[in-house]
Amino acid sequence: MDLSDNTNTLTYLFLIRECRSEEAEALLALWQAAGTSPSVTDTITDIQAAMSSSASVLVVEVDQRIVGSLIATFDGWRGNMYRIAVHPDYRRRGIGRALVREGERRLVKLGVKRITALVEEKYPSAVAFWSNVGYEIESGIVRFFRNP
Ligand SMILES: CC(C)(COP(=O)(O)OP(=O)(O)OC[C@H]1O[C@@H](n2cnc3c(N)ncnc32)[C@H](O)[C@@H]1OP(=O)(O)O)[C@@H](O)C(=O)NCCC(=O)NCCS
Repeated sequence: MDLSDNTNTLTYLFLIRECRSEEAEALLALWQAAGTSPSVTDTITDIQAAMSSSASVLVVEVDQRIVGSLIATFDGWRGNMYRIAVHPDYRRRGIGRALVREGERRLVKLGVKRITALVEEKYPSAVAFWSNVGYEIESGIVRFFRNP
């Protein structure tokens, strides 16, 4: 019997874990490299504050490098996901999907029944990503905000 097989298999190994306090700067660098929209909370102090809250500040590590992130929060009423980002060199390998699944797992453990993610329509790839990982678009809603 000929068992030869010319198919090549490439498996990417990555670790999803909590971000460490001293990695806040690396997280800011990742967001910049990933092209996420800047926000008022893109500071080391705010990232460290999130880490010491009940939020899960998750990072993806490959070869001792931070290449992905997600912040999953529960405010006691709803679950929210923020700052999904994967470094451009590591996209389309399932890292973003794995981050969302891990964030969901942690939120569900806290009793969350509904999870939302705010996505800017000007980024069709982000819209495609969230649709593809199982999230629905809720039409008829606008977001009100104020930076006090
Ligand atoms: C969106 C982002 C996090 C996706 O990360 P990723 O690790 O590449 O995502 P995955 O490999 O897990 O993709 C899962 C599925 O989402 C969809 N998807 C991902 N990127 C896509 C793109 N650029 N265009 C269309 N669909 C895409 C695909 O269906 C993909 O499955 P497939 O590769 O089997 O076809 C990443 O592109 C990114 O960091 N973008 C910049 C920051 C950003 O826009 N964040 C979202 C703000 S809400």
